Amino acid sequence: MSAIVVRPSGPLEGTIAVSGAKNSVLKLLAATVLAPGRYHLRNVPDIADVAWMSELLTAMGMRTNRPAPGELVVDAPEDLLPEAPYELVEKMRASIVVLGPLVARFGRARVSLPGGDDFGSRPIDMHLSALSALGATIELAHGFIEARATVLRGARIGLDFPSVGATENAMMAAVLAKGTTVIDNAAREPEIVDLATFLNRMGAQVRGAGSSRLEIDGVDALSPVEHTLIPDRIEAATYLAAVGIAGGELTIAGARPDHMDMLVHKLGQMGMRISPCNEGLWAMASRRLTSVDISTLPYPGLATDYKPLLVAMSTVADSVAIVTENIFSGRFRYVDELVRMGADVRTDGHHVVVRGKEWLSGAPVRAHDIRAGAALAVAGLRAQGETVVADAHHIDRGYERFVEKLRGVGADIERKDDR
Ligand code: EPU
Repeated sequence: MSAIVVRPSGPLEGTIAVSGAKNSVLKLLAATVLAPGRYHLRNVPDIADVAWMSELLTAMGMRTNRPAPGELVVDAPEDLLPEAPYELVEKMRASIVVLGPLVARFGRARVSLPGGDDFGSRPIDMHLSALSALGATIELAHGFIEARATVLRGARIGLDFPSVGATENAMMAAVLAKGTTVIDNAAREPEIVDLATFLNRMGAQVRGAGSSRLEIDGVDALSPVEHTLIPDRIEAATYLAAVGIAGGELTIAGARPDHMDMLVHKLGQMGMRISPCNEGLWAMASRRLTSVDISTLPYPGLATDYKPLLVAMSTVADSVAIVTENIFSGRFRYVDELVRMGADVRTDGHHVVVRGKEWLSGAPVRAHDIRAGAALAVAGLRAQGETVVADAHHIDRGYERFVEKLRGVGADIERKDDR
């Protein structure tokens, strides 16, 4: 078991570097099943989810290795076992995105159904109906999705909601389908654009990425490529939250301000000064922040992944914030953990009401997911005494050298391993 211990800190000062985007690399790795050969990825974060996705690729018959920090090489043979076992999908729901590319390339795929998690119910109906629209037959049996197709044909797909995963699965299936596919109400996240860029480099014909309508002309075959990942906007947001809570001045090297417009705007309303700089993003918090209301939405709206961070910031800001979650039905367990730290937070349906206090009170708390864990840790920067975030392995799923990076800018944070 591993915990992260945080003590009151600040002002933070210096430069902190952002790694490559977790939610991009996982999908790019899934896309490597689309064509045999050697792929070379750069700016790949050293996080547990990448290790698990690499394990999944290995289980299918691929080889992966990390020749240098930040680099990942994937060797994909001509033939693969198109299966994703329960043990890996259960650990990491994102594995579901191998379904589309596997059925497109091999005409069949057997992928475990992902289970529930702390975000409430997370169905995959849109993934499946998109693949059915392309001509795959889907059967659910014994906890697995069995998808088959002699040939996939381009089709019109209208998503009920701009789901990130369903857009990615549909896009990766459509690139090898016969004819043209149109995906309406597609997700517009920067990670979708990164995947489309990667696929186009491989020889795919994807147009409109970043808008809500994707048009994809299927091609007969793709080939492997080199690619440098976009930076992780949620990791960058975590450091913005840290400086917002602890005060100080940070340069967030490698961040892409153009991927974070709404967040930068919101944090400006709360009293932070943030501007683009040569290295990435510069941020300063010189006084206690003021609460503002927050509502999560699909990109370009405020990401649900920012929400635990924004709630943590609001617990020590001046005034009251009403935070509304519009993406997931759950995702509130960290609120009870913040209450253990003395925060005045109440949930009501999909709303959270946060009354800010000058200080929180350090306490033992538990990380239930990646972003919740990071939010509790940064809340600890303004909690008297010691905050001990248990189950820090959740943080390791999405953050590379979390403790070291924050220590480097003056946070009083350390890792405690009970091994
Ligand atoms: N939904 C359905 N049916 C579907 C698919 C989605 O009802 O077939 C619903 C979901 O239940 C949810 C909403 O649609 O209510 C949006 O879910 P989406 O499919 O967009 O989420 P995802 O692809 O499963 C990705 C990120 C999440 C991030 C969400 C929302 C990855 C690996 N995960 O999940 O990131 O919160 O998009 O932006 O890309 C994280 O990084 O910690 C994380 C959880």
